[in-house]
Amino acid sequence: MNIGNVTVGREGSPVLCLAPMAGVSDLSFRSICRQHGADFTVTEMVSAKALYFRDHKTPMLCRLAEDEHPSAIQLFGREPNTMAWAAAELLSAKNPPDIIDINMGCPMPKITKNGEGSALMREPKLAAEIVAAVARAVAPVPVTVKIRSGWDDRTKNAAEFAKMLEQAGAAAITVHGRTREQLYAPPVDIGIIADVVRSVSIPVIGNGGIMCAADALFMLDATGCAGIAVARGAMGRPWIFEEIRAALEGREFAEPSVRERIEAAIRHLHAIYADKGERGVFEARGAVSHYIKGIRGAAQVRDAINRATSPDEMERILSSLIEEAECGDTHPAGD
Ligand SMILES: Cc1cc2nc3c(=O)[nH]c(=O)nc-3n(C[C@H](O)[C@H](O)[C@H](O)COP(=O)(O)O)c2cc1C
Repeated sequence: MNIGNVTVGREGSPVLCLAPMAGVSDLSFRSICRQHGADFTVTEMVSAKALYFRDHKTPMLCRLAEDEHPSAIQLFGREPNTMAWAAAELLSAKNPPDIIDINMGCPMPKITKNGEGSALMREPKLAAEIVAAVARAVAPVPVTVKIRSGWDDRTKNAAEFAKMLEQAGAAAITVHGRTREQLYAPPVDIGIIADVVRSVSIPVIGNGGIMCAADALFMLDATGCAGIAVARGAMGRPWIFEEIRAALEGREFAEPSVRERIEAAIRHLHAIYADKGERGVFEARGAVSHYIKGIRGAAQVRDAINRATSPDEMERILSSLIEEAECGDTHPAGD
């Protein structure tokens, strides 16, 4: 698939993306997902204003791994000039992104009350101005936008909105098939994603509720989208990309054993500490808890991990779960 002048994924195959997740899709998680077959990764959302005012924590969010290409950094904001400035600033980095993505889907009140994120779906004219300003500032680097199906049930304007953004210069659109009002709750409106695919001639990436290969195949079949983006389905299950790829190619996929899952959790926690040091303790606790869901004894282990303060201590606690699990059965709905 081509997003502007950038080739993403493999020829003739849908693109498998890791969707942006603030507080989750940091550099270590994105690297892990790429090792497991994600074709494309997007950073956590970054405030254009924070970049502009040189907030000291923001550059941390904009770092890409050396080999993390093609990739995008996601910006949010509502002032076209600030967004354009921030996008150009990102491209002046030593290891710049291949694409600039703009967040027009975030539902969180602290974002929407400022008219940012999904609130821009209620201001299509301003949204188009933002895309045009950013596209002008970074050309020929492509600009993409992540949107929702609409603000609420009465205003599902994703198809017209996407068309306006295409005319303003967007090179691809990711659609999360839920309204702002729905936040993250089911159902996902597959029909709206199909409407967006029909209304634009740029690539559309379908997002929402993809937790396994069957969900991805359904999204691709039912919408005709060029790729899919997985968010929560990759948390503690980064191999979902391999599972989806295997299904696309008609191959069997062997679900990792309990031991393999826990070993993956241990690798992930060390990757977080290697990248962030002691500051990574909260992320490490959160990240590993997803890998052990449903394993016998996971609840107690999670409590112990939440009290642990070093990676070695967390590793010891997780390893004890392997021994326990290998002595008994696992029960998927447990914990
Ligand atoms: C913890 C969390 C953080 C998120 N942060 C972002 C973000 O920074 N930018 C964005 O565009 N979407 C963000 N999202 C939305 C996801 O990218 C995705 O659209 C949504 O979770 C639906 O996909 P899913 O059903 O596969 O989880 C976030 C979602 C979660 C759960």
